[in-house]
Amino acid sequence: MKSLCCIFDLDGVLVDTAKYHYLAWKRLAATLGFDFSEQHNERLKGVSRMASLDILLEVGGIKGLPEEEKRDLAEKKNTWYVAYINRMTPSEILPGVLDFLHQLKAAHVKTALGSASRNAPLILKRTGLACFFDAIIDGNTITRAKPDPEVFLLGAQALDASAGRCIVFEDAAAGVEAALRAGMKCVGVGNPNLLHKATMVVPGFENLIWEELKSSLITLKN
Ligand code: BG6
Ligand code: MG
Repeated sequence: MKSLCCIFDLDGVLVDTAKYHYLAWKRLAATLGFDFSEQHNERLKGVSRMASLDILLEVGGIKGLPEEEKRDLAEKKNTWYVAYINRMTPSEILPGVLDFLHQLKAAHVKTALGSASRNAPLILKRTGLACFFDAIIDGNTITRAKPDPEVFLLGAQALDASAGRCIVFEDAAAGVEAALRAGMKCVGVGNPNLLHKATMVVPGFENLIWEELKSSLITLKN
C-alpha cells in the first residue's frame, strides 16, 4: 500500500486558539449589545472570518449592515484576536501534539497544514510548529471556506498525494464535512457528539500512536 499523508487543521486541533476566537467574538457581540454563548460559538469553528461574522450578526438579530461596516467589525475582532495570539508560546501547543508530529516525522509521513485562518503564519511562528509541515495551506491561500473541500485538496496537491491517501485531523463539523467531500478519511479531534460524521473520533493527541491509528483507519470507510 502507498504511504499515507496527514493534513492538520490548526485552530482547536494543534493549538487551543478556539478560546481566543471565542473571547474576541464575545467582546464584539458585547459592543453590539448582545451575549454570545459557547454554544453559539460552536457554529463558528472552522468557518471563515466573514462567514463567522454573518453567523454572529444573525445570533444578535442584526440585519442588513453595509459591507463596509461588516468589514470594520471583522477587523475590530481580528485586532483583539491578534493581541491574544501575539502572546502565544509553544506551551500552548495542545497535549500530545508534538509527540505525534515527531512520530510522523520518524515514520517519514508527509504532512500539511489545512487551516481557514489568515493568522496561521503568526500562530505557527509563535509556537514553533512550522518546521513540522511539508506544505502550508491557510486562509491566505484559499478562495472557498470549509465545508468546501478546497483547503484539503490543495494540501493533497502540495504533497503530491491522491485524496484517498490523505487523513485529515479536524475539530470542527465544517472541517469534517470538507475532508469527507474531498474524498479523504477524517479523524475528528474532540467531542464525538459534534463530530459524528468523522471516520473516527479521538479525544486528543495524548497517547495517540500513529501505527495503531493507521491500522484502525485502514479498516474503516470514509
Ligand atoms: C478557523 C477557525 O481555523 O479559522 C475559525 O476555526 C476562524 O474560528 C477561521 O474564523 C478564520 O480565522 P482568522 O484567523 O483568519 O480570522
Ligand atoms: Mg479548527
